[in-house]
Amino acid sequence: MAPLDYLKDELADLEEQGLLLHPRTLEGPTGARARFDGRDVINLASNNYLGLANHPRLNEAASGAALALGAGSGAVRSIAGTMSMHRDLERRFADFKHAEDALMFQSGFAANAGTVAAILDKEDVIVSDQLNHASIIDGARLSGAEIKVFPHRDVDAADDLLAETARPGRRQLLITDGVFSMDGDIAPLPGLVEVAERHGAIMMVDDAHASGVLGRGGAGTVDHFGLHGRVDVQVGTLSKAIGVLGGFIAGPTHLIQWLQNRGRPYLFSTSAPPAVVSACIAALDVIRDEPQRIDRLWSNTRLFKEGLHALGFDTGESQTPITPVITGEEDETQEFARRLFDEGVFAPAIVFPTVARGRARVRTIVTADHSEDDLRQALEVFGRAGRELGLV
Ligand SMILES: Cc1ncc(COP(=O)(O)O)c(C=O)c1O
Repeated sequence: MAPLDYLKDELADLEEQGLLLHPRTLEGPTGARARFDGRDVINLASNNYLGLANHPRLNEAASGAALALGAGSGAVRSIAGTMSMHRDLERRFADFKHAEDALMFQSGFAANAGTVAAILDKEDVIVSDQLNHASIIDGARLSGAEIKVFPHRDVDAADDLLAETARPGRRQLLITDGVFSMDGDIAPLPGLVEVAERHGAIMMVDDAHASGVLGRGGAGTVDHFGLHGRVDVQVGTLSKAIGVLGGFIAGPTHLIQWLQNRGRPYLFSTSAPPAVVSACIAALDVIRDEPQRIDRLWSNTRLFKEGLHALGFDTGESQTPITPVITGEEDETQEFARRLFDEGVFAPAIVFPTVARGRARVRTIVTADHSEDDLRQALEVFGRAGRELGLV
């Protein structure tokens, strides 16, 4: 038997439990309507909130930068891979987030994991929402700090954990997603900030799903709640509403300088190529010049949510364009997602272990690019498939 053969058994196990991933293949550009696995569908599965992933200004910026500056940056940031455009983008992001400075990472995952691991060590403690993203969990593990998890959005429980774990000289980090990716609900940031301030804890928010979505001009949850200057570390991704690829941290200058010296993805992984950076800069221009995109995202969100409620679906606590349609059982949910796809609507089934057992759902994300017609058609299919399966 070859040393890796045990993985075959593990895979067979996953398949038997219905947990083996079989991702669909996008054949053409992403968009409100797109082609997956040979079928044209209404796409409710992407994070392309503002429809920027295939926006002509971003496409032109990307191709222009590749032609002028090449396909790659050639090195890690800390050696020879910092191009002037990286710094330009970072200054733009600092402004966008009303922060002193910002630092780009290769992904939102790298930004979260690299930052949490760089600012804490094994003497410290991390107090983390139960539903925080995997990249926060991995960063917390990498830091070696003690990890304490509080029930989802429970400010009092976070307060208690900070009180229990306080020791002289020990640093504490209170960390939350701004918008939760599987439920679409918003963190109780004002309460968490107050608690963090009372305990002298570092406050960090992962705004992957809020940047470009919530707050004035899409500035995120800190702006949405009017908490400028009270959140120490803001995380964003460039791969969702911004439409491209990468992540960033925004915060005080000394934090950014520290990450330039101790952020391991920044130090040990090659920087983003010109096409990516240039497209991100163009995305910020479009968000500034076309504010109607954010308005449209929210009017589409309202229309779709109201439609799902009228049909009798349970959408949990969602307050944002991420709307789960909670069905409960794993098998039933997989069948529901298959029916939707066969009838021309792509909304993926999200099952254990991504969400708790018995809380399976299909997750929908509307974008600014969906037309009213797209959404009404999708609702019709949801209603029909839901009734046929006895879900509503
Ligand atoms: C809450 C949250 N944080 C971070 C990330 C990671 O971002 P990226 O896809 O840019 O690595 C994601 C996306 O998958 C996310 O949902």
